[in-house]
Amino acid sequence: MNRRAEQLLRWYDDHHRLFPWRVTPSERAQGVLADPYRVWLSEIMLQQTTVEAVKPFFQAFVTRWPTVGALAGATDDDVMRAWAGLGYYSRARNLKKCAEIVANELNGVFPSTIAGLKALPGIGDYTAAAIAAIAFDQPAAVVDGNIERVITRLFAISTPLPAAKSEIRAKVQTITPSDRSGDFAQAMMDLGAMICTPRRPACVLCPVNDDCRVLTEGDPELFPVKAPKKDRPVRFGAAFIAISRNGSVFLRKRPASGLLGGMAEVPCTNWTARIDGETSADAAPFPARWRACGSIVHVFTHFELRLSVYRADNVAEAAAADGWWASPGDLPGEALPTVMKKAIAAAIPDAFTPKRHSA
Ligand code: ADE
Repeated sequence: MNRRAEQLLRWYDDHHRLFPWRVTPSERAQGVLADPYRVWLSEIMLQQTTVEAVKPFFQAFVTRWPTVGALAGATDDDVMRAWAGLGYYSRARNLKKCAEIVANELNGVFPSTIAGLKALPGIGDYTAAAIAAIAFDQPAAVVDGNIERVITRLFAISTPLPAAKSEIRAKVQTITPSDRSGDFAQAMMDLGAMICTPRRPACVLCPVNDDCRVLTEGDPELFPVKAPKKDRPVRFGAAFIAISRNGSVFLRKRPASGLLGGMAEVPCTNWTARIDGETSADAAPFPARWRACGSIVHVFTHFELRLSVYRADNVAEAAAADGWWASPGDLPGEALPTVMKKAIAAAIPDAFTPKRHSA
């Protein structure tokens, strides 16, 4: 095994982070393998999301659906509701599709090869490599954002990201050992999260500091080099919170595909780049006494959304069609993405605090 991998694994034995989807190095040494279902579920949740945000969702999922077969048997709506708040909802739709394929076509057994994993919905290069390494100890080159940072520093790669990706992957492949490949990948992630941090890295504590090119030649904080980001465009729109006599809120289901596909929403105008777009009460989905209650801002990956929020009270339930009325008690359990919760909370400040009583 190469020297860097040896040093890193020795450090990981003592300093690994504990997560509910992990087996510890000592368990691993006793032959305990990570459950591929839990590894897969955690990796899908961890795409674009922090470990702290993922933990409660992961626990809720594995408690409710302890196996891939159980998840495959759930309804789409239950999965979307359980995912609400984690963001990037196409992940949840693909999660369900992937569970169905593994349960129904692969006898409940996840593939152990990169090619087999990549053939499944929602599994791309990174996730396939992570599952192959962590669940099956394959010597796959696992490269996430933390690992990119570690590698550009260790090897002083000054090509800007994203152009540097293939160079980084090649370096990761050269130092990935054929033994303990899963622990190695997780050790790299932990090093990036705890020692080789974006700001003020703790280089004196780093197990591979004697082999770090940037540390001897320059300033680790200047790596990775990134191509300048384009400004995020702004879109505008309006959201309408219709409240019935008993305090229920009118919700609709978004189309199955596209942004927030299959999730619940309050009626909205289109979200347009034009500042003179439909952002007034004139654009309401049905006539009611709409009152303005401020606005909310929500940042998506590709644009920032500014929504004017309107509220109407005592709306007759027959006035609204193609949706359903969610009672105050049911509202927190609906598949509402964060942007919709923000809009509803702008109109009904205690909508998502426990024990709201109807008006
Ligand atoms: N981020 C993505 N996958 C991870 C994992 N398995 N452990 C810790 N952080 C991660």
